Amino acid sequence: METRLMDQNLHTDDQELSLRPVRLNQYIGQNKVKANIQVFIEAAKLRSEALDHILLYGPPGLGKTTLAAIIAHELGVNIRYTSGPTLERSGDLAAILSALEPGDVLFIDEIHRMPRNIEEILYPAMEDYCLDIIIGKDASARNVRIDLPPFTLVGATTRAGDLSAPLRDRFGVMSRLEYYSIEELTLIVERTATIFDLTIEPQAAVEIGRRSRGTPRIANRIFRRVRDFAQVYGSDTITTVIAKEALTRLEIDAYGLDHVDHKLLLGMIERFRGGPVGLEALAASIAEEAQTIEDVYEPFLLQEGFIQRTPRGRVATRKAYEHLQLPIPEHII
Ligand code: ADE
Repeated sequence: METRLMDQNLHTDDQELSLRPVRLNQYIGQNKVKANIQVFIEAAKLRSEALDHILLYGPPGLGKTTLAAIIAHELGVNIRYTSGPTLERSGDLAAILSALEPGDVLFIDEIHRMPRNIEEILYPAMEDYCLDIIIGKDASARNVRIDLPPFTLVGATTRAGDLSAPLRDRFGVMSRLEYYSIEELTLIVERTATIFDLTIEPQAAVEIGRRSRGTPRIANRIFRRVRDFAQVYGSDTITTVIAKEALTRLEIDAYGLDHVDHKLLLGMIERFRGGPVGLEALAASIAEEAQTIEDVYEPFLLQEGFIQRTPRGRVATRKAYEHLQLPIPEHII
């Protein structure tokens, strides 16, 4: 069976929840976003107003949901969770909105996947804290406006570009979450070890941090698998040797690339002579979904310079050939 470390929010289990920081000062990394949000929270509290709506965007696993929960906690309000694809009927959103208490946070994950008719309900809700609903049918149909309590919408998306302009314009704050540094991921792994009441050698934490693709969710997943190896080996400390062996067995290479990344890079190189290749053709050739490639795998490969996007498609870079220890063709500069 393949081990997938890149799966998205499929199983946010209790264990993962308990790993999440609850206060802003426990949240490691994203320093600029954190510092700004701290100011906006303080200002909203001083004015006893609802915080302005916030859009958090960036690759999966970087802590958008965690940050939303922290915002609510710091404001001292409740948070309600929903997601774009689960909001099917306009009544679903209307029910959630009308159950909010003053100042509450409404978190909408994958907000770019919200149906258009539901999005339109959000406009007056975000702008004027009210719901415009139509009661009755045909000739007897009437517009009714219902007041809502002031609230804060925190939207999360991996694709800010897919949001419609009217929705985007209604967010007072747009914060982009970035990939974490190895140092930050090392701290996160050490924090997780402390929560699990385990000792980890400093170099083992660095090794996990280095191979987590800048992503805390991956760091914590790898940590759990490494812990399994330590446990079965009867070691009460997570040593560097155990961490490295576990990472090798999980097929996570020194850069944090896994077998899907390898398949993707090899596919580009072997089937398309290194590109340019279109996303759909590439996806079909390696039997992965185009959207998963685009949202999950590609951003990190782009950031690290293994691939480039050109107007004619994706190309594998010299770094990709070198990393895979393949002969570098002449057309690559
Ligand atoms: N666990 C997962 N993400 C984290 C973060 N950004 N800070 C602290 N602990 C975390």
